[in-house]
Amino acid sequence: MSSEQTTIRATVWQTPTPDGLEVLDDVLIRVVDGEIASIVPAADDPAADDADIELGADEVLVPGFIDLHLHAPQWPQLGTGYDLQLSEWLFEYTFPLEARYEDVEFAQAMWDSMVPTLLANGTTSAVYYGSIHTPATTALAQACIEHGQRAWVGRVAMDHPEGTPGWYRDDSPQIALAATRESIEQIQRLDDPLSLVNPIITPRFIPACTDELLASLGDLAEESGLLVQTHCSEDDWEHHHVIERTGVRDATALDRFGLMRQSTVLAHGGHLNVDDLALIRERGAGVAHCPLSNIYFGNAVFPAKMALDAGVHVGLGTDVAGGPSASILANAAQAIHSARMLEEGVDPELASIDRGRAGSRIDAITGFWLATVGGALVLDQPLGLIEVGRRFDAVSVSLAEIAPSDRGYAAERRFEQLVRLAGQREITGVWVEGQQVVTAST
Ligand code: GUN
Ligand code: ZN
Repeated sequence: MSSEQTTIRATVWQTPTPDGLEVLDDVLIRVVDGEIASIVPAADDPAADDADIELGADEVLVPGFIDLHLHAPQWPQLGTGYDLQLSEWLFEYTFPLEARYEDVEFAQAMWDSMVPTLLANGTTSAVYYGSIHTPATTALAQACIEHGQRAWVGRVAMDHPEGTPGWYRDDSPQIALAATRESIEQIQRLDDPLSLVNPIITPRFIPACTDELLASLGDLAEESGLLVQTHCSEDDWEHHHVIERTGVRDATALDRFGLMRQSTVLAHGGHLNVDDLALIRERGAGVAHCPLSNIYFGNAVFPAKMALDAGVHVGLGTDVAGGPSASILANAAQAIHSARMLEEGVDPELASIDRGRAGSRIDAITGFWLATVGGALVLDQPLGLIEVGRRFDAVSVSLAEIAPSDRGYAAERRFEQLVRLAGQREITGVWVEGQQVVTAST
């Protein structure tokens, strides 16, 4: 088979470490079969003048964004229902919507709206919850292949007679396990020439699953080696519900069920303590920090800095539709805002010394690192950086409106503007596995 090659001439901005911005000025990137084969200064390579793609003077290339946590069937309710508490939101609002995905045609229409929109926002990798419906979940994986998005796609397992409504649940743990196996097989059988999609084992969260189901999905993870995703210590209600039911905290309970594994994606984690973080680190699992969702449903700010300092892998999630944005960059900006508010505190009646948690802030570089390298570390994938040996998943961003070079700011300041201000309008191109999947319309 002949190999496929592309060359891109660009200035790269990226964050190899949580506190380091790297600028690769005017380089030629050679991509072979989706992998970055070489990066050299354009001035050193005569081929630079004939690059297949050349970015404009006020454009930069950045690594693709990784959305570690979102609920695909909740796409139509994005931005709504945030007056409710999490448990009410799920039962009154979200489960009725998810139940509609029994209708595969409805599902396909949603996937064909959602996947291109996420790509246009720079989400080159997404870790999806589907619904309990196997056909709709397979159709989601198929849509990711067709639109060219890298994805982990999970059929949701949820069988608890009290934690789920009778009209939206798996009828028994055995049925949930069999449907999970069937969903995995269907996704693995799809024609996926670029190997973009992977199944992922998806117990919704402890309140929605019986002990038997949780243990059997833990066994399945061990047997199959597939990744696991679930929610962990998201809000007060869920966190205390798990303690009352199991006698231990969420992270420990998941561990006892065999679900806290290498690269298990734990969504939210706003109520994790130091012991939980130590356990997560020991197991090699990671946290999908969903800062916009946490504002409405978390009852707390996830201490991202504390988790990073504890050596835990942390990336970002939009939690569509728990958070009101499909943009990982918007969540990176919110992660920075939330961390600052955690540090300063929010109650003006308190003395400033008592108001917040010292040492909690993160800056724009760390926020961007979470959106890229952080997600790659959680998933243990060669993504997150434009570096030889990694897959070429990248986003070109026009700074012409938000941070043009003629304003005379240093790259660090312009980078802050990119992180805080860039959105879909500024994204001029998106590549996944070396293939261009979004081209600016203007
Ligand atoms: N916990 C269990 N299910 C969900 C969900 O759909 N969204 C959020 N935010 N939390 C959950
Ligand atoms: Zn979620």
